[in-house]
Amino acid sequence: MPKNATQRKNLREELLSKKENSMDTKPFDDRDGVIWFNGKMVPWRDARIHVLTHALHYASCVFEGERSYGGTIFKLTEHSQRLAASAAALGFKLPYSVAEIDKACTETCKANGIVDGYVRPVAWRGSEMMGVSAQATRINVAIAAWPWPSYFSPEARMKGIRLVTSKWRRPAPDTAPVKAKAAGLYMICTLSKHAAEDKGYHDSLMLDWRGRIAEATGANIFLSFGDGKLHTPTPDCFLDGITRRTVIGLAKLRQIEVVERAIMPDELKKATEIFLTGTAAEVTPVGAIDGMTFKVGDLTRLMMEDYDKAVGKDAHKHAPAKQAAQR
Ligand SMILES: Cc1ncc(COP(=O)(O)O)c(C=O)c1O
Repeated sequence: MPKNATQRKNLREELLSKKENSMDTKPFDDRDGVIWFNGKMVPWRDARIHVLTHALHYASCVFEGERSYGGTIFKLTEHSQRLAASAAALGFKLPYSVAEIDKACTETCKANGIVDGYVRPVAWRGSEMMGVSAQATRINVAIAAWPWPSYFSPEARMKGIRLVTSKWRRPAPDTAPVKAKAAGLYMICTLSKHAAEDKGYHDSLMLDWRGRIAEATGANIFLSFGDGKLHTPTPDCFLDGITRRTVIGLAKLRQIEVVERAIMPDELKKATEIFLTGTAAEVTPVGAIDGMTFKVGDLTRLMMEDYDKAVGKDAHKHAPAKQAAQR
């Protein structure tokens, strides 16, 4: 546990340098390749928008985070459907069908030579109006793809990442469209993640507005209490992740019972294993939360392996698991 200021500073530096190792650190506006921009492939550096873009000022923007494994985007159509649903939650309609978005995501990967990588579709209100009301703005859509090996460093993943409880909470469903992958909601995530990193932790555990365990800043959470079952918070005020649903399906295939319920923070001390799930995080073990430590146990390892097989890492060896999870 990071105790004093020097230890925290060292941990923070170690964390940030590892993070840089695990990602390409080139600025995102200065890369080679092409970006799909409102229906056309444009040179990467030319995919620009004006400073008076509604989305920049008022967060009228939704996005997706997808991963391509071996040239196939995992659960692509579910992601495109969620993009359309997020847009609808923010009161706008995408000018492309789900099938067109699917096709554009695949073409973007191909055009950039991405076999294993990350795909980022984004949709936003343009610059035709500048004010809270934005009824007549154009809806823009862009898709970028880049190589992105691991969200947390491989060392941290093996040992289990360290979380600290955030002071920021997930809002109630009547405060914001909590099921949407909407840019505005990520203000809470960035504040929480930065606070965690500043204290030498990898990420934050966020509670919901009632004080229940909700999720991390970009991933859902599963816990085991040593009874062979997996417990996960009911997703009633945060993203019901595609990875979360995949892991629930994989656990069921193994006859592992998954209990979706309200989980209070004081239950953490009884947890034996904890892991996160997300497109970027995949299945990542949690080694510590605040002052409590957890082992990277059998259930976690099993879910990590099953997920790797399902997404198609080592695809040729594990074809049946992949097909089961895609269903
Ligand atoms: C806040 C938040 N929760 C959960 C998730 C996990 O969702 P998924 O598994 O669909 O990537 C993500 C990632 O998109 C996220 O940003």
